[in-house]
Amino acid sequence: MTILENISLQPYNTFGIAAKAKYFVEINHLDELQAIRETTIFKHNERLVLGGGSNMLLCKDFDGLVIKINLKGISLLTDNHEKAILKVAAGEVWHELVIFCVNQNIGGGIENMSLIPGCVGASPMQNIGAYGVEIKDIFKELTAFHIESGALHTFNKTQCEFGYRESVFKRKLKGQYIIVEVIFELDKTKPTNTSYGAIQQTLDEAGIKDITIKEISKAVCAIRQSKLPDPKVLGNAGSFFKNPEIQNDQFQKLHLEYPQMPSFPTIEGFTKVPAGWLIEQCGWKGKVVGHTGVHKNQALVLVNYGEATGEEIKKLAFDIIESVKVKFGITLENEVNFI
Ligand code: FAD
Ligand code: EPU
Repeated sequence: MTILENISLQPYNTFGIAAKAKYFVEINHLDELQAIRETTIFKHNERLVLGGGSNMLLCKDFDGLVIKINLKGISLLTDNHEKAILKVAAGEVWHELVIFCVNQNIGGGIENMSLIPGCVGASPMQNIGAYGVEIKDIFKELTAFHIESGALHTFNKTQCEFGYRESVFKRKLKGQYIIVEVIFELDKTKPTNTSYGAIQQTLDEAGIKDITIKEISKAVCAIRQSKLPDPKVLGNAGSFFKNPEIQNDQFQKLHLEYPQMPSFPTIEGFTKVPAGWLIEQCGWKGKVVGHTGVHKNQALVLVNYGEATGEEIKKLAFDIIESVKVKFGITLENEVNFI
């Protein structure tokens, strides 16, 4: 375990922002977390835990210690006709876990979350989700390293306080824990879910009648690749904002004025409105602003055309928030973490 100094974070964030870290360390074994905790650099500096860097905007150089979690290992604890239980280390790549499951014919919904970038350790942070399934639907428990005491604590589903792109680790316990391992419980008896978005249509177009989890995974990958820019080609962090959940009476009023406004059901008393639609209506879709811009196929995705700084992207995000607020009276909230 070596603490490096003055390291470029450009290869470590999917926006491709060329910010630097004062200190940088990679953690390959659990005991290295204990060891790093004892160092003066750890004790006297701000810390940033890093997975795949696919949900963060580096607004400036990081004047502290970046801790890149590389812990590896997937173990199948149970696998019978009804369920599979998997123990997965935080540094495993999320999509590789999905492929591992699909290849073993283990579904239970994980197949709908194919191709989400990033690592397993970050997946509970914002309760990742796509195509009708969220982490909370397949989650059993996690183990996290308590930074202050160095102890390992276990959290079950209730204790994680999952919500839409939310968990206790983004709120009450922010900055207090490093997730080191997640246990998933996949219900193999659960019917496959093709109802969300264009999954069924994609399967129909390909003439697929025998709907397996492998076919669903392939369909989800194809849909995602048609809409979302590949960060290796065009820097981005997926949806930049959350889809706002507004009170039903506010939605009714807006709907009278904008009858085409799409909506989705969500928690009782609220309606979810796609932020991509709101942003597109404000004229941002496909706009280029300096080195940054709004993606031409998905208005919820802000992109880096190569040399954007985090500040430039932040400024664009604030301008978008302002225009959506003025036109619709809705305040968009960032999904991406500003560092
Ligand atoms: P990072 O960006 O490295 O970290 C994110 C946050 O979690 C940071 O605050 C970091 O400090 C913290 N963190 C990371 N690892 C740990 C750990 N082990 N312990 C404690 N804290 C930690 N998200 C979705 O939900 N659904 C999607 O469909 C989706 N599509 C995307 C598509 C694209 C093209 C991109 C680029 C992103 C997309 N995202 C999506 C966002 C992103 O993939 C997820 O948020 C993912 O879980 C981030 O993982 P990461 O390892 O890259 O996290
Ligand atoms: N829309 C537009 N214009 C756009 C984009 C979207 O009008 O430019 C409208 C359309 O009406 C469309 C609706 O928004 O039907 C929803 O769009 P889409 O299916 O592309 O999904 P999204 O709401 O934009 C959410 C998640 C994604 C996830 C997909 C699929 C959030 C913030 N985003 O996007 O997650 O992959 O659904 O489930 O909830 C992420 O979190 O980074 C992410 C990519």
